[in-house]
Amino acid sequence: MVLLDPTASGAPFSQRVQRCFGRSAAAYPHQARLQAAIAERLAGLLERQAPALPAGSRADLGAGSGLLAGAIERQLGGPRLLRLDSCPELLQQDCGAGAPPPQRLWDLNGGLPGDLQGAALLGSSFALQWLEQPQRQLEHWCDALAPQGVLALAVPCAGSFALWRQACGLAQVPFTGLALPEADPLIALVRGRLQLQRLQRLWFSRPNPGALAFLRQFKGIGAQASRTPRLSRGQLRQLERHWPNHIPKLSWEVLVLVARRAP
Ligand SMILES: C[S@@+](CC[C@H](N)C(=O)[O-])C[C@H]1O[C@@H](n2cnc3c(N)ncnc32)[C@H](O)[C@@H]1O
Repeated sequence: MVLLDPTASGAPFSQRVQRCFGRSAAAYPHQARLQAAIAERLAGLLERQAPALPAGSRADLGAGSGLLAGAIERQLGGPRLLRLDSCPELLQQDCGAGAPPPQRLWDLNGGLPGDLQGAALLGSSFALQWLEQPQRQLEHWCDALAPQGVLALAVPCAGSFALWRQACGLAQVPFTGLALPEADPLIALVRGRLQLQRLQRLWFSRPNPGALAFLRQFKGIGAQASRTPRLSRGQLRQLERHWPNHIPKLSWEVLVLVARRAP
């Protein structure tokens, strides 16, 4: 295992992210239902690519408890995927029956490890948005692929949680969610480097449980790290007062794509 370098660029925020995920790691595999569904979908989209995958490493970047790696292994077969993540507690959750999967503790803000240059398959689901420079890291991921190597990516995007933002505006409290990347520049970046095979811009909705329960859902899976200071009790009360309880659903925008490097 490679140890995390706490001085790596962006270490303070990435360490907070890691700590939050670490504290809720035991609950993650059962509670991350949207992430599990997306992992299965993304693995399914890869099926057609499988026969033409070149030889070489396969990895799940920001693998967490291994939802995407496991789905790809189950649906495609072939060599196991290396699970890369900065959170040891989440990696430890990836312990199904059989031999333990290949794992590496790694901060993706520092780029990819050298042995993933020339990779055959790089997958990543719900992780890119946590990085300091999502676009820059995505460029590295595209460029690291071998000829005919495949990128499989799922990432929540900026269209998510419009109602949360609106409620914060009305309540005049800061929005404490993560700034999610815009889908269009990510698509353009991938199109400029790889051949797009599948592209889906999906909208998922979840019941609106009210302000506090909504915020607790993030904490439940460790996804509450924020660059903005936590709301005070008074601010939370303000937010509750302006929360759109009459709107039954809150929505996520998720970009899902599969792209192949030219031969
Ligand atoms: C929402 S979880 C997604 C996990 C998994 N891919 C899934 O779909 O269930 C985000 C993951 O990104 C990882 N992560 C966040 N920042 C990271 C970084 N700088 N380097 C490596 N992993 C990181 C977290 O530890 C966490 O496992």
